[in-house]
Amino acid sequence: MSSEKPSSITTTIQQSIQHVSLGTLCKSMAISGLVLFLFYTVLFNNHPYYQSSSRFTLFKLRWPLYPKDTYTPNIHNKTPTNLSHIVFGVVGSMNTWRHKRSYIEAWWRPNVTRGYLFLDRPPTPDFQPWPASSPPFRVNEDVTKLFKVNYRVVTQVRIARTIVETFRQGDEEVRWYVMADDDTVLFLDNLVEVLAKYDHNKYLYIGKNSECVRSNSDFSFDMAFGGAGYALSYPLAAALATELDRCIGRYPIYSSDLLLQTCLADIGVALTQEKGFHQIDLHGDISGFLSAHPQSPALSLHHIDTIDPIFPFKNRSASINHLMKAAEVDHSRLLQQTICYQRRSNWSFSTSWGYSIHLYESIHPRSFLRRPLETFKPWSRNARPPFYMFNTRWLRNNPCEEPHVFFLESIEKTGGDQIITTYARASPRNLPPCSSSGNHSAEAISKIRVFSPAGVYKESGAVECCDVEQMTNTSVTHVKLRACTKGEIIA
Ligand SMILES: *[C@@H]1O[C@H](CO)[C@@H](O)[C@H](O)[C@H]1NC(C)=O
Ligand SMILES: *[C@@H]1O[C@H](CO)[C@@H](O)[C@H](O)[C@H]1NC(C)=O
Ligand SMILES: *[C@@H]1O[C@H](CO)[C@@H](O)[C@H](O)[C@H]1NC(C)=O
Ligand SMILES: *[C@@H]1O[C@H](CO)[C@@H](O)[C@H](O)[C@H]1NC(C)=O
Ligand SMILES: *[C@@H]1O[C@H](CO)[C@@H](O)[C@H](O)[C@H]1NC(C)=O
Ligand SMILES: *[C@@H]1O[C@H](CO)[C@@H](O)[C@H](O)[C@H]1NC(C)=O
Repeated sequence: MSSEKPSSITTTIQQSIQHVSLGTLCKSMAISGLVLFLFYTVLFNNHPYYQSSSRFTLFKLRWPLYPKDTYTPNIHNKTPTNLSHIVFGVVGSMNTWRHKRSYIEAWWRPNVTRGYLFLDRPPTPDFQPWPASSPPFRVNEDVTKLFKVNYRVVTQVRIARTIVETFRQGDEEVRWYVMADDDTVLFLDNLVEVLAKYDHNKYLYIGKNSECVRSNSDFSFDMAFGGAGYALSYPLAAALATELDRCIGRYPIYSSDLLLQTCLADIGVALTQEKGFHQIDLHGDISGFLSAHPQSPALSLHHIDTIDPIFPFKNRSASINHLMKAAEVDHSRLLQQTICYQRRSNWSFSTSWGYSIHLYESIHPRSFLRRPLETFKPWSRNARPPFYMFNTRWLRNNPCEEPHVFFLESIEKTGGDQIITTYARASPRNLPPCSSSGNHSAEAISKIRVFSPAGVYKESGAVECCDVEQMTNTSVTHVKLRACTKGEIIA
């Protein structure tokens, strides 16, 4: 196998598919399906463990179907969902653990979050004793002992089965199982808030497809991309636990996420999309994307190793920890876009709270600023446009459309009721001022301070307004976030 990293398996597979036409792919899938089917028939009919009427007796003997036989979700239980109702399952691998550990520890809360890191083999002695700052580890069952699977799909089957193995740990009082990769960071408080909107007693499969048209067409537009993280309600995880292995036998599918989507479809469940999960099937500088986040709580970021560090001048893990500092202070505003204008100089300020500010020397409406600047590249190097599932803006060296870019420098909580986030200029813009709106250069602005209320969280899905304050110190500008007034128009 060329790579042990679960997240890059998808990459490898995806890149290799690009050379195969769809027809060839379908044909080879059909043929390998037939081969696999015959194999199973032979395997299960002859294997000593499988002589009974059900080929899954083995699982029933080894694991109870439900963590407690008496467990029935309380339908009348109307208490709000909190973090302790979620069990996390993280798919990792021993070979990459040393390097991915810091990404998991950036969001994992020891003694608070419940869940497990699943590894392909037991940790080597240099990782013992296992750190308390990480999720407890479990070793995945050896799928080669359960199925006669092609060596190329072993890792994919291992990843797909992790949700079921997580379920079989038998945790109690669980409403949701949330799965993620080892190069995913999750924003837990937003995740709780979003999941709390849904009825955990129903069958729910919540996640998001890819940013790239090509990735979705290669796999499925209706599939939760696992790296972005996805959630299954307790009863759906229970149903999957009884069905998944049988389903794996039905479909010779080469991708864990597609396999899961296919098996859930057989159960009758379709994906519910939540915009805050981010697979990040992107390459390069994703600051344009993160500076125009959808109007929805930020839930995850994936592919941290395949993109540039999200903050210039910081390495990847330091960048993630820097963003996490903002998330800890105010998860509700994290990456949320707020737009306001300084009419005196015809400037537009677009804040992505806790991350960046784009300052334009022209007045642009929200519909324009909501489109991410295409600072990034699509996942697949030989994809053809349209690349993305959303509209973008191009960088054209136009002084009226190209922003001055500022990134989060520091966060402080004042003694009072304010949070001050300070954003520092990344670099000179190296363009003349925007002539059509009056030649008001913003080059002298080196820092922008944003004032937001402490302890008053932004309502999920709502948008806020702001005011730009005129400062005597011309190198620093202040922006104050506030609730929009009734009927306030930003244009
Ligand atoms: C979460 O809610 C349950 C009730 O469903 C409660 O018993 C528990 O203490 C809460 N946990 C936290 C951390 O708030
Ligand atoms: C977690 O709990 C254990 C046992 O209660 C305790 O010894 C340990 O210090 C706690 N760890 C953290 C990081 O709070
Ligand atoms: C990343 O930067 C941090 C802070 O500067 C440093 O402590 C850490 O060792 C760096 N990590 C790597 C992998 O270079
Ligand atoms: C702002 O720009 C408009 C044209 O878009 C221009 O007519 C107006 O004079 C400018 N205002 C200032 C203060 O420069
Ligand atoms: C802006 O400056 C340019 C060159 O200095 C000039 O040609 C143009 O008329 C100016 N625009 C305004 C609106 O003053
Ligand atoms: C303006 O602010 C900058 C950055 O905080 C500082 O370096 C500079 O001394 C200030 N200038 C004045 C005149 O206060």
